[in-house]
Amino acid sequence: MYNIIWVLLTLLLYVSRVIDSMSSDRIKVLKSILAKERLLGGRDKRGKLHENDPNTGFDCCPTVLERISPLGGLSRDGKLLQLYRDTNTVQKFYEKSCAPDYSYAPCRFINQTVYESRCVQQFTYMYAIVKDFNVTQPFRVDYIKVKSGCTCKVLRERAMDL
Ligand SMILES: *[C@@H]1O[C@H](CO)[C@@H](O)[C@H](O)[C@H]1NC(C)=O
Ligand SMILES: *[C@@H]1O[C@H](CO)[C@@H](O)[C@H](O)[C@H]1NC(C)=O
Repeated sequence: MYNIIWVLLTLLLYVSRVIDSMSSDRIKVLKSILAKERLLGGRDKRGKLHENDPNTGFDCCPTVLERISPLGGLSRDGKLLQLYRDTNTVQKFYEKSCAPDYSYAPCRFINQTVYESRCVQQFTYMYAIVKDFNVTQPFRVDYIKVKSGCTCKVLRERAMDL
């Protein structure tokens, strides 16, 4: 019994230390990545929904194209990177996300009685001027993770009860 309490206390202490060790800067960058906060010039215009274009056909998973100017990003091995930025230079990217209603939702045009399907966010890696976060080292060119589209995955064929 006392053992369990001891373990819990140690765990709590560890968690609070981890949170303390994150500087406020790091938390700001993390938040900006997670909340997709658009800095400088405020929020970009809302992305246009790319659908219902008879020339290019209809997407089973509609997407939204947005121009973002993030403060930080994730490397190929999931490390936090800080993007280079000064008053004259802001790195911008075009990001294609699953449309809000379609993120991990069943694909359009797929008969749901026959197939279980999901719209799944796709990613790619783009070159950017970055450095590892929170270390004093020169900037370098490296890959950051960027949303690159939304694809329809068929998970399984539903068993037909005839
Ligand atoms: C979906 O598939 C089922 C079974 O084959 C069929 O009965 C139904 O009519 C289909 N629905 C549509 C919208 O095509
Ligand atoms: C980040 O920087 C702060 C202040 O410079 C330092 O106290 C902290 O240990 C650093 N954290 C990491 C994970 O390097």
